[in-house]
Amino acid sequence: MNNKDKAIGVFDSGLGGVSVLKELVKTMPNEKFLYYGDSANAPYGIKTKEEITERCVDIIEFFLSKGVKAIVIACNTATSAAANILREKYSDLPIIGMEPALKVAADGKVNNTIVVMATPLTLKETKFNDLMAKYSNDNIVIKMPCPELVNIVENDLLDNEEVVENQLKTYYKDLNMSNINSVVLGCTHFVFYKDYMEKILNNNINIVDGNLGTTNHLKEVLREKDELRDDNEEGSVTIYNSSNDERFIKLSEKLLNI
Ligand code: DGL
Repeated sequence: MNNKDKAIGVFDSGLGGVSVLKELVKTMPNEKFLYYGDSANAPYGIKTKEEITERCVDIIEFFLSKGVKAIVIACNTATSAAANILREKYSDLPIIGMEPALKVAADGKVNNTIVVMATPLTLKETKFNDLMAKYSNDNIVIKMPCPELVNIVENDLLDNEEVVENQLKTYYKDLNMSNINSVVLGCTHFVFYKDYMEKILNNNINIVDGNLGTTNHLKEVLREKDELRDDNEEGSVTIYNSSNDERFIKLSEKLLNI
């Protein structure tokens, strides 16, 4: 099989990366996507770097056994823990990672207050702290670790308004909403909360995520390598999950909703 016809492997600690997959399928409908949710091992956000790296290697090996032309780490946490090591180990394979879209929220701004919602590991790692240092001179950047939001998605509680709204309000209870300019959804699970966030936050707060940026980046990489499938070719999505519980595949399909 030539490289062009190979699939694109997309993975996350669980179901959050489905929010990225949605954007990928919308933008590149002719591609074949393999999605791997590691729900048996979620959440990653409270694991060590070493544990996460081990999981990522296993998942990439799985994708390689299927034949892939690129990998998307649809997880901010796994990217900050393992992307550099993975790129070194699999140097022939394009590996696209994610980071909280602080650049999008802060670029060119001064005196803005920006809240970054992410997992504890993402917020602790050097990758994010280097990024934050670039924007903290001109703006106030507030780190908000939200591990509970990962579990709500994994436990299929996203439709439970009471659970979700109470959780979100707990995070924001000590912040003055009228001082916040932007909120960064720095974990792919959190993108599913966008409607709730719009309801809870002030209307004029800008809510940003990195899904479109990541998608455009992958498209550009494949275009440069002349590895995008043709417009008349049919795309596909195949979903795998590390959990034996069939519920996770069903839930992934529900979240993908295409
Ligand atoms: N969805 C992941 C992210 O973007 C991680 C969630 C987790 O497993 O803690 O960071």
